[in-house]
Amino acid sequence: MSERTLVLVKPDGVERGLVGEVIARIERKGLKLAALELRTADRATAEQHYAEHDGKPFYKDLVDFITGGPLVALVVEGTRAIPAFRQLAGGTDPVEKATPGTIRGDFGLEVQYNLVHGSDSPESAEREIKIWFPNL
Ligand code: CMP
Repeated sequence: MSERTLVLVKPDGVERGLVGEVIARIERKGLKLAALELRTADRATAEQHYAEHDGKPFYKDLVDFITGGPLVALVVEGTRAIPAFRQLAGGTDPVEKATPGTIRGDFGLEVQYNLVHGSDSPESAEREIKIWFPNL
């Protein structure tokens, strides 16, 4: 069954010129782009997006980082799009968890600067898509 997921190429990924690389991997996997926008997130958007991490030690740095430069927000759709993109991304920690062959495993070194975000469940996907693309 087709489903949608919210993907971000975070400011580190944009800064490093990895937008095309990420999109190429999404497309080669067989997933489709349903929406795509380059933008700099304001604080309210970032805080909504990362609400579940409010109170954690890395929360402020995370919001500072994600609002610190342009990012690319995408809605990606296809069969099992949510786990399929998480497979492409690799684990949250680019060294300890993500394996070579994944986006984070191939290009990342630090947990905060892990290049991409992908929704972790159907509920998160619907919530996050509404935050980034309220008109979709
Ligand atoms: P993401 O998949 O976008 O979801 C939450 C983000 O918080 C995560 O990717 C990382 O960028 C960041 N994060 C998670 N754990 C840590 C940590 N221990 N230190 C710094 N950032 C973290």
